[in-house]
Formats: sequence, C-alpha cells, structure tokens
Amino acid sequence: MNVVITNLTDHTGAEVHGTDLATAIDPETRARLNEAFVDRSVLVIRGRALSPHQMLDAVRMFGDVFPQHNTRFALPDCPEIHYISNQDKFPDGRRYIPGEGWHTDHSNDVRPPKATILHAVTLPSTGGDTQFANMAAAYDALSEAVQERLRRLIAIHVYQSSHSARRLMALPSAAKERVPNAVLHPIIRTHPDSGRRSIYINPIRIEGILGLDHKEALPLLDELLAHATAPRFHYRHKWEPGDLVMWDNRCLLHKANGDYDMNEVRYLYRVMLKGSVPI
Ligand code: SIN
Repeated sequence: MNVVITNLTDHTGAEVHGTDLATAIDPETRARLNEAFVDRSVLVIRGRALSPHQMLDAVRMFGDVFPQHNTRFALPDCPEIHYISNQDKFPDGRRYIPGEGWHTDHSNDVRPPKATILHAVTLPSTGGDTQFANMAAAYDALSEAVQERLRRLIAIHVYQSSHSARRLMALPSAAKERVPNAVLHPIIRTHPDSGRRSIYINPIRIEGILGLDHKEALPLLDELLAHATAPRFHYRHKWEPGDLVMWDNRCLLHKANGDYDMNEVRYLYRVMLKGSVPI
C-alpha cells in the first residue's frame, strides 16, 4: 500500500492517506499505523464511508474492543459499535451533546480504554470539531518540583463527579452492575508503549484526591486543567466525510464542540479499545 503519513502539529496528530480500511491492511502498513499512533497520539485516517461491521474489522488491527459502559448507545445490529449523535435528549427534554467538556474516556474503569475511535457518518455543514490536548507535552512543561509533587497523588474516579458541571446520561440498571463505584488512578501515568509520563485527570470523573480535602484538591485540579488545556498543547480536528479518527486516552484530553446549528445532524460511529491499569 502506498500510505502517506503527515504530522498535523509539532506534538500531536498524524494524517494518513492511501489506506482503504474496507480491505485487509498488510502487516507492514499495520505496524506503521500502530507506530504513528503511539508517536502522535491522534491518527486521522482519511477514507471512505465504512459500515459498522467494516469499522469493527478495521479497528481490530489496533487492539481488542472495550465494552462501553453506557449500553444505550449501542447499535442494535453491531453492539460493539456505539453512536454519537446530537439528536438525543435527556429525560427532561434538554439536548444531550456527548463529549462536551475536556475529558478522557471511561477513566472510572479499572482498565480504562487505551483508545477511542470515531468514524464520521453525518456531519454538520460547519463546526462540531473535536479538540485534543496533549497531556505528555503538558507534563513536560511543568517544573520539576510540581512534577514530583503530582507524581505522589492518586485521584478517585467515579462515573459522574459531583463537582462536574457536565451531566452524563444515566446508566441503564443492567450496566450499573458492571461499572465500578470508584477506582483509584495516579494523577501522573506512564505510557506503556512510549514510556512518556503524562497528566491523567478528568473533570467529569474525578471526585477527589486521596489524602487531600476538597478545599485543597479542587483548586489544584482546576489549576492543573487550566495548564494542561492551554492552546499550545492542542490539536483541533475538523471533520471530513469518511474520516476515521483514533486517539490515545492515556495521554490526551479531548472534547466535542456543540457550536453548530442543532437542526443539522452530527452522527458518528464510536468504538473503544481495551487498555491496561494506569501506572
Ligand atoms: C467523545 O468524547 O467521545 C466524542 C467526541 C466528539 O463527538 O467529537
């Protein structure tokens, strides 16, 4: 395959042309894509529309599928694939925009997913970008004293933090049994493949920091989030039809933007890949 991989910013993102994910990818190309993923944290594979089953077959070259917590978004004929849509409403009638606000996916799991993959199906005519912030670059930019202090801190992650302004869609009762009440993860984690340290925080999931009261923990988390999401650490993805975008939850925060005309539909397929215990 004549695959061309181009960097999108100095620190994050690589764009891939010349693959057809609806066909078998040769081992050499697979290895290049996996390497680029570890190195660049966001892979943007430009291509054509895939069916849910084609997407599922394609993403298996990167890992095993992680069962998402909220099963209400599963596609009936291909439940490993979920959807992201701006057409769903909360029970009180308010519109639900999935993924708004900086976060990393499913950090309330003992083994959070290493990657999330979206495939564009229907896009608004303008807006609806996905933004990414590189947590390894943000960690590197901290002073050594702050890095050392943060390396000693452990955060408590829950399904929905009581401190978060962003509300999540409630879990169906069957799913509640599978989702842990609370898990502990280090605030600084080391990437299992690159060996780089990165900040691992999540405003919608972190309930507190072990050994610190809220008066100390919450301002610390706010300050860290402000540092980590500074524009110099960003890659902003403008969606094109057929895009498949895979990002590394171990070293990025991301957010969706609900900045477009809500009479237009934004609909993407979503799948996650299994990860390991953060250390
Ligand atoms: C997500 O947070 O998984 C969704 C991001 C998006 O819709 O852009």
